Amino acid sequence: MKFRKTKQENWTTQLGVIMAVAGSAIGLGNFLRFPGQAAMYGGGAFMIPYLIAFLLLGLPVVWAEWMLGRYSGVNGYHSPPGIFRCITGNRYMAYFGSFCVTLPTIISAFYIFIEGWCLMYALRYLFGWMELEVGFSYSDLFADSVGLSGDGVLFQRGFWNFNLLCMLFCLAFNYFLIYRGIVKGIEWFCSLALPALLLCSFIIMVRVLTLGNPTGIEGQGILDGLGYVWNPSQPDKTLFESLSNPETWLAGAGQVFFSLSLGFGVICTYASYTRRNDDIVLSSLTSSVANGFCEAVIAAMMIVPAAYIFLGPAFLTPENLGSSFAIGFQVLPEVFHQMPMGRMFGFLFFFLLFLAAVTSSISTLQPEITFLEEGLDIGRKSSLMIVGVITTFGAFFTAYFTRQLTALDTMDFWVCNVFVFVMAGVQIIIAGWIFGINATMDELHRGSQIRIPYLFRFIIKYISPLYLLIVFVAWLYQRFPAQIEKILQNPVAQLALGFIAFVTIFNIVITTQALSRWEKQERLNSNATEGEL
Ligand code: ALA
Repeated sequence: MKFRKTKQENWTTQLGVIMAVAGSAIGLGNFLRFPGQAAMYGGGAFMIPYLIAFLLLGLPVVWAEWMLGRYSGVNGYHSPPGIFRCITGNRYMAYFGSFCVTLPTIISAFYIFIEGWCLMYALRYLFGWMELEVGFSYSDLFADSVGLSGDGVLFQRGFWNFNLLCMLFCLAFNYFLIYRGIVKGIEWFCSLALPALLLCSFIIMVRVLTLGNPTGIEGQGILDGLGYVWNPSQPDKTLFESLSNPETWLAGAGQVFFSLSLGFGVICTYASYTRRNDDIVLSSLTSSVANGFCEAVIAAMMIVPAAYIFLGPAFLTPENLGSSFAIGFQVLPEVFHQMPMGRMFGFLFFFLLFLAAVTSSISTLQPEITFLEEGLDIGRKSSLMIVGVITTFGAFFTAYFTRQLTALDTMDFWVCNVFVFVMAGVQIIIAGWIFGINATMDELHRGSQIRIPYLFRFIIKYISPLYLLIVFVAWLYQRFPAQIEKILQNPVAQLALGFIAFVTIFNIVITTQALSRWEKQERLNSNATEGEL
């Protein structure tokens, strides 16, 4: 299946695509989600399920996505529906692919809302607006800033309030980068933002590691803080106890998924802009390892140890650690408040979060942009207009229904957990079974300097799908009943589901349009080739 296009965009360098994919992966999941999960599920013990999930699920799905993307991109297809159809040779697979357009589009809507919080906190630290009123805690400040107390509170403060302005800026900034395209927008920004965010995180990490024991309380020094995150055996939990808890394994797999942006449809879209003989094994490995380094080394060594040193172990309850937002927006401001030069470090931390969030959110906008351009044959302006309407609506929807963040949580549950697992499963089945494991390996190795160990043929074909299935079923068993109850009882959760359904149907309709366009174009191409003969 070949689809000839007039203009083909490619990443300019191998480093460029590595930066873009790593930028997509390195996000709020690394700096907010990972440290809390690690500390909650047994510190060093959590690293074991995390690493196993990285090897048996993470890398295989990453390779499957890169292979799908590059193979189809060379044949002229860059959007997930085009990619799924091209690689399987089955037109109906395009409908499966359309889910990989819906997912990132919905993720971008609520992700940009959170990105706005990061910018808001960075600016507050920069301008010295983090002082608390008497009787107010940082948890109160967070609740007030994001409108946790009720739906519509952010809008009651006037449209131009600080929170909404930050979100609007983030929306506009994302659209601006996407409008500039793969090379001048995404590659350019990631090449600047990634080193900048690494520098910020490095400065904070060094500061935390050199803190010693600022409070003077015994057992609350930096080594104790590091021990809290890294020791496989904790005072209240042995290694065996941590590993025999199925939740630890689910948390490890969930973290790998969210953090590597697996099943989002982003990696295959990005990979479709590589060239025929680019070394995609090296690029995929480098970006995945960079992502792991940012969370398992940098974030793990700075966030929880800092909270441990200043606030003590009693403060690190599952409530404070379990929610990514609590650790980032409620616990850390308390730490910066007590830390020498805390204002500067607070600014650096939230600025790095903002950069990490932007490099991820632009990647979630790209699949829909590519799909509309490729499926409907429209230009960048029109595709951006459509994506802009959908995602701006989604972001305002999330910003309006802020009571206990129900809208955000519902979208996060269905999209980042349920759908993402299903789509990753479809991708690994395509690579291992439909396209075939030998063809997959041959395609991956084309232009590659390194070879994937032979064992991975077996892993990709059998172990990863089985592992995925077990994790998914166990996870559904654990979390599904509560979600269903929430949907039945909560109208906001129903509306959030309605938004997901709307975007899903929209992309299915566009897929039908796209299929007839692609098939017509392919018939014309083959007639032209026959004519030439
Ligand atoms: N992979 C992105 C993150 O970690 C979505 O935030």
